[in-house]
Amino acid sequence: MSYENIISNYSNGITTITINRPNKLNALNKDTIQELHDAFDEANKDSETKVIIITGSGEKAFVAGADISEFADFGVNEGGKLAAQGQALLFDFVENLGTPVIAAVNGFALGGGLELAMSCHFRIASANAKMGLPETSLGVIPGYGGTQRLPQLVGKGKAMEMVMTAGMIDADTAKAYGLVNHVVEQEELMPLCEKIASKIMRNSSVAIGKAIKAINANYKDGKDGYKVEIKQFGKCFGTEDFVEGTTAFLEKRKAEFPGR
Ligand code: COA
Repeated sequence: MSYENIISNYSNGITTITINRPNKLNALNKDTIQELHDAFDEANKDSETKVIIITGSGEKAFVAGADISEFADFGVNEGGKLAAQGQALLFDFVENLGTPVIAAVNGFALGGGLELAMSCHFRIASANAKMGLPETSLGVIPGYGGTQRLPQLVGKGKAMEMVMTAGMIDADTAKAYGLVNHVVEQEELMPLCEKIASKIMRNSSVAIGKAIKAINANYKDGKDGYKVEIKQFGKCFGTEDFVEGTTAFLEKRKAEFPGR
């Protein structure tokens, strides 16, 4: 598929999706959100893709937020619709993908940009990255899941402070908060993401998909995560990956998972 606002590249089991609006600091307009949905969907359905990495083009920004120029004149109904559509199309969609998604946060991750990074399964940042939810400085609140995912990741008090002050934190603070897992120099960012992706790829993609489902259940209202875990655990026993993984262990050899 060809895209105007993003670039999607496959290599060695990894699909790298790059948001490519550097002149607008990769701000998420409607078309970009739709293209991201399509690219994530395509990569998730591609059996060769074992890990997805998302990043921003240029050296300055991952994503500097939702495109403010698109919603500045919206009314109440349009505002609600914007958040609902965006959450369904991109943010919830990414969080619930069965393929692991790593956010390579290579600069500003603000508003919708941080919300996108938080929808990913985990985050790695470059040392120049700056993160924040500045929406209250614009007279709105985060609408792409930020009020829910930020406290899940950093705790309620820190999330409250970040949202109320609309301030930015640097990469080291984000690591200390638990918002990102690692911080490296910018030139080391993609190599580190790829190194971690290659470790993930050695394991059963089927089991990883089920683990994502079980972990996510802990954060969903009305879901008993323990029950989801039991169900997903049981299902693993019916997979070819389970047969291969346990057989390989007993035969003292490296597993070659078929991914089924
Ligand atoms: N929506 C639309 N356009 C954006 C944008 C956004 N969220 N963030 C940046 N841009 C655009 C700027 O308007 C500018 O476009 P122009 O050159 O056509 O005027 C371009 O990207 C470069 O941004 P600029 O502000 O000149 O860069 P800077 O280095 O001076 O500042 C930021 C960087 C990130 C501090 C600043 O761009 C900013 O505050 N952006 C908005 C962040 C925000 O509030 N996001 C939440 C949205 S809900």
